[in-house]
Amino acid sequence: MCGIIGYIGKQQAMSILLSGLKRMEYRGYDSAGLAIYDGKEIIVKKEVGKIAQLEKMLNGHLMNGQLGLGHTRWATHGIPSQVNAHPHIDREGHIALVHNGIVENYMALRHRLEKLGHKFRTETDTETLAHLIEEAYEGDLLEAVQMALAQVRGTYGLAVICDKEPDKIIAARMGSPLVIGVGEGENFLASDLAAIIPFTRNAIYLDDGEIAVITADSVQNRTLTNQKVLKTVESVTMDLEQIEKGGYDHFMLKEIMEQPRTLEDSMRGRLLEEEGTTKLGGIRQFEDKLADARRIIIVACGTSWHSSLIGEYMIEEFARIPVEVEYASEFRYRDPIIDEGTFVIAISQSGETADTLAALKEARRKGAITLGICNVVGSSIARETEAGIYLHAGPEIGVASTKAFTSQVTVLALLAILLGRRKGLSAAQGRWMVRELKNLPLLVAKILENTEPIKILAEKFKDRHNFLYLGRGYNFPIALEGALKLKEISYIHAEGYPAAEMKHGPIALIDKDMPVVFIATQDGTYEKVISNIEEVKARQGTVIAVCTEGDVEMAEKADYILEIPRTMNFLMPILSVIPLQLLAYYIAVLRGCNVDQPRNLAKSVTVE
Ligand code: AGP
Repeated sequence: MCGIIGYIGKQQAMSILLSGLKRMEYRGYDSAGLAIYDGKEIIVKKEVGKIAQLEKMLNGHLMNGQLGLGHTRWATHGIPSQVNAHPHIDREGHIALVHNGIVENYMALRHRLEKLGHKFRTETDTETLAHLIEEAYEGDLLEAVQMALAQVRGTYGLAVICDKEPDKIIAARMGSPLVIGVGEGENFLASDLAAIIPFTRNAIYLDDGEIAVITADSVQNRTLTNQKVLKTVESVTMDLEQIEKGGYDHFMLKEIMEQPRTLEDSMRGRLLEEEGTTKLGGIRQFEDKLADARRIIIVACGTSWHSSLIGEYMIEEFARIPVEVEYASEFRYRDPIIDEGTFVIAISQSGETADTLAALKEARRKGAITLGICNVVGSSIARETEAGIYLHAGPEIGVASTKAFTSQVTVLALLAILLGRRKGLSAAQGRWMVRELKNLPLLVAKILENTEPIKILAEKFKDRHNFLYLGRGYNFPIALEGALKLKEISYIHAEGYPAAEMKHGPIALIDKDMPVVFIATQDGTYEKVISNIEEVKARQGTVIAVCTEGDVEMAEKADYILEIPRTMNFLMPILSVIPLQLLAYYIAVLRGCNVDQPRNLAKSVTVE
């Protein structure tokens, strides 16, 4: 996620802004920049890469001034580059701003502004805001920002300065956090407490729909419609490390808990409920060909391979296009057959996994049309493919992938609906699917509200040596994912299997010491899964079942149940994985493991 820092007061802004940006480096970013008012004009300096590159570019040059903004960018629209880095300015550079979030309707706004004579320097959604504010500016910056934001659809954490009113920063929040640090004769603004803690522990948290006028000596809060808002100044007690983790003990838990929001971000601007379909701008030019594809091959590794399996089931069920899922590391070496009309989709959170990148290059060499589903904008895999769909899940710091996985499955669901609606899926069915997708973040939040049953199970099973995870249909890949989560962070051996495969070998392992986790939601294979559970019980196995809430039969059959809300079968994996992410997390914590950086693992496997 991007980092925002602002300063106004008695000190030189530059060192404060750079220090604040450095404290947000942990969040991940691809470029950085500063805008400082030097008494006459706003000077903007920005560079692609790390803050060190920006400092190198500054080459010791001091940007004088006591009013300024800083930004570290996590690219969403427009590749990482110097020109796309924030801050962004209006035509004449009287206005500079930094922004976190996504302006969904930026293209429409941009077209209107271009008709009014505005020329754009970048491909970012953020630059549109600078021109919009310029267009609305008639001598009152607060009013101009309010008028501009009234036209915006999307999310923002926004900070604006203007050389015609150099005594203030205007800050506005909608869906992306902003906090004001209150000092003595100076005030700070940041997207993350970590950036301002060294300067002050007195904080005013902006809420969605609020806008603040920040001067060196005052903070006035209002709504976008200029209603006054009374805010309290809170004293921050968390230490820096806790702040970076959002108050959670680990990045992994923070990322598990932020899934309701990351799912919303992955769907933002992509659901067309009335038409009962979805919009994926990144692959628009390939939609026709993809809908007519003879075959789709998905290449990925690890957790991304698990989400690929779910994508296979979805696309084949709704679009009736044959899909094969391949381990990228296998695909690249076995001289794969790529015929006319074959699409190869690479799925990768980091966009840098060596095996997946190599598989993609092999596919291109053989003439496949290649698409990417990545989280990191401008990553190697994203650049190697002809088009793609970004997750917009924000940086995933924990080595064990959680929010990226559920966003991958969500994006694959969007794709399956888009293709399905071109292949006979009815508008009514599409509307139902889109509505269920839209409701998903609420269901995930409901599961996350009640983690006690999972903590109890973690305490009970933390010392076991082996686990078996079983599921059928859409739940089979979740069995694989649940097993991977447990083994990679707790170092307990765990295997995922199709439930029906148990009788072809793994059943020999069942005994009283082997917990068996069933993903047993009420779908078409439910009765078969019940039979599998009885087979395990007959051999003194202990059964933990992830089941649909209110499933009385399962409560009687299983030794322990973890209930989840009901939704459409194809979306159940996004719900059923949540308790398994948490089970792995709590067991790993109880075992004293390094949850965020498990032994032997890297967040991005850029080696073969
Ligand atoms: C998942 O928890 C693991 N960290 C690992 O399997 C990961 O999914 C795999 O290395 C693929 O990474 P990518 O999605 O960045 O390509």
